[in-house]
Amino acid sequence: MRKRNGSGEIELAAKIIDGRKLAAKLREAFALRVQALEASGACPPGLAVILVGEDAASAVYVRNKIRACEATGIKSVSHRLPSTVSNAELLGMIVELNADADVHGILVQLPLPAHIDVARVLETIAIEKDVDGFHLYNVGALVAGNTVFPPCTPYGVVKLLESEGVSVEGQNVVIVGASNIVGKPMALMLMARDATVAICHAKTRDLAQFTILADILVVAAGVPNLILPQMVKTGAIVIDVGINRLPDGTITGDVDFAGVAQKAAGITPVPGGVGPMTVTMLLENTIASAERASVRQRLVEARHD
Ligand code: GUN
Repeated sequence: MRKRNGSGEIELAAKIIDGRKLAAKLREAFALRVQALEASGACPPGLAVILVGEDAASAVYVRNKIRACEATGIKSVSHRLPSTVSNAELLGMIVELNADADVHGILVQLPLPAHIDVARVLETIAIEKDVDGFHLYNVGALVAGNTVFPPCTPYGVVKLLESEGVSVEGQNVVIVGASNIVGKPMALMLMARDATVAICHAKTRDLAQFTILADILVVAAGVPNLILPQMVKTGAIVIDVGINRLPDGTITGDVDFAGVAQKAAGITPVPGGVGPMTVTMLLENTIASAERASVRQRLVEARHD
């Protein structure tokens, strides 16, 4: 967007991409899907969240997820386990939830304490209840372009881009951060939509050499102010996935928002950008799981009629 400043000079000011607004709109539609499911006689969607230990940020994220479930009509149950919990106890809880017909989604909040075998935990979650999309089966489905549960944060980014009318086909996308939760699934989802994707990470030499080429820049590095205006192409779309707490308690992203907003065509704020969308796509995955369970149940009933 072009604006004139006080001296009459033209300056660029990005459109602020409002994740809260889109999240609210999507959640209204999700509440209707929950009502329709219940009206059909199916049980309401159920989400089980497991939180291990006392990590303050994880506790806040879990609380936000539970509240969002309540507001949408999803029945959520949170299970808090001490940081000393054994692998066997945690796996046992997941096995029980796998067998619980009222539970359509199981989410184990990450990170987990060092003694826990994370890969084993994620692979114990039933694939049809893996609303995070972190099970190897769902990761493989994502690689093959046949997603069952798209991981929530990159799914939220895709929805934000779609809602802004940003077509990714043929665009240069640069992703900063190569995590299993954001960077890697983000790359796969955008490749599936025919973007040209580069992934940068902590060992990338001369980050700016890559970021400056991006038509769409997605930053999920967990480093405040990592992306400065001189690293961004004029007119780029900048998606800031970072959530960093500064010593004074304020929350900030990975992008120098004030500076980059003068150069980009669109930018997500932190807070209020990607964060609300992550929770929203978790709701979507849980409802979709309950809808699929209801279809399976009807097929079983039809066989016994
Ligand atoms: N920790 C940070 N983001 C996530 C997420 O999307 N899911 C889970 N389970 N843990 C997380």
